[in-house]
Amino acid sequence: MKALILSGGKGTRMRPLTNTMPKQLVPVANKPILFYVLDQIIETGIDDIGIIVSPETEEGIKAAVGDGSAWNAKVTYIFQPEPGGLAQAVKISREFLGDSSFLMFLGDNLIEGGVKNFVDEFNTLHPDALILLKEVPDPRLFGVAELGPTGKIIGMVEKPKEPKSNLAIVGVYIYTADIHKAIDKIKPSWRGELEITDAIQEFMDMGKEVKSHILDGWWLDTGKKDDLLEANRVVLDGYLQRKIEGEVDSESQIVGRVEIMPGAKVENSLIRGPASIGHDCHIKDSFIGPFSSIGAGTVIEKSSIEHSVILGNCRVANMERLADSIIGGDTAVLQRQGRLKAVKLFVGDNATVEL
Ligand code: DAU
Repeated sequence: MKALILSGGKGTRMRPLTNTMPKQLVPVANKPILFYVLDQIIETGIDDIGIIVSPETEEGIKAAVGDGSAWNAKVTYIFQPEPGGLAQAVKISREFLGDSSFLMFLGDNLIEGGVKNFVDEFNTLHPDALILLKEVPDPRLFGVAELGPTGKIIGMVEKPKEPKSNLAIVGVYIYTADIHKAIDKIKPSWRGELEITDAIQEFMDMGKEVKSHILDGWWLDTGKKDDLLEANRVVLDGYLQRKIEGEVDSESQIVGRVEIMPGAKVENSLIRGPASIGHDCHIKDSFIGPFSSIGAGTVIEKSSIEHSVILGNCRVANMERLADSIIGGDTAVLQRQGRLKAVKLFVGDNATVEL
């Protein structure tokens, strides 16, 4: 089996962060989302991986993933000039996919526990397609599946106004090579895209067996700011281990599950976990509270930060209380006056914010 990761698109819902970085590389607990996807694919035993890239994402993703050797994988890049839809991404990957069955994984989705069980189920039951589903409170934001009495999928609609179930389509699917025949038959939707949900519906109409697998664990579609903070919280909460590899002076206190990466320096500060401090950060006279991730090379001085994601090479100084915030890379956030008690920000890369 091969794998196809979709990391194209324009990332409009995550602006301003994605003005300068692909949304698939936005970090959760100091690790790009796409790296979790790659780790989870490798865990299934698949090592022949195609990655769809767009003009907006190509450079960043190639720089981060390279030839895949860091994962012992063979990576093939497939260029998609326009976001023509998930089924179009499969269509342009036909040469790479050949006659192989394939695991398709949307590059901005985080799934608890990985997809090994899902791949094992496909290899045991041999359906024509296996679709991962998850119950959600508001299915209108997703592709939605309708199941028959035996649990077989009987219908599938993209972002319906009146959903027939609360089962959202998670961005992970497995198809046999026959899916290409269904994709050849479908036409672009009202939004001008070749929808994978239309292709699956067509596949079922062709008499193919489409099975579903309901995900037990959490699933985070990291498309928006609040989703990203929530993903950061959940991953830090569930997975972070205490690991102090940087330097911590005797005036500082590190409480609970805190990761301090090599080259980082903590002076006269309190860090309360779960929190991740990236390589070569400098934390001075500050408090870093739970559910915070501080990117590599960032300097924090005389500040208090909680429940926030701060990317690399930033400078945060004199912030009395920065909470629930996302700060893009190479950005400075500086408080000049003492009257602001709490601040909540969503700032892109290369910015300066003076308060
Ligand atoms: O996240 C799950 C949802 O993902 C499913 O429930 C929907 O059925 C499915 O259509 C999809 O909806 P989104 O609106 O979230 O898709 P989005 O445009 O965010 O694209 C998902 C990923 O695929 C993202 O990493 C960008 C990439 N992509 C997207 C398109 C449209 C491509 O590589 N090429 C494309 O043409």
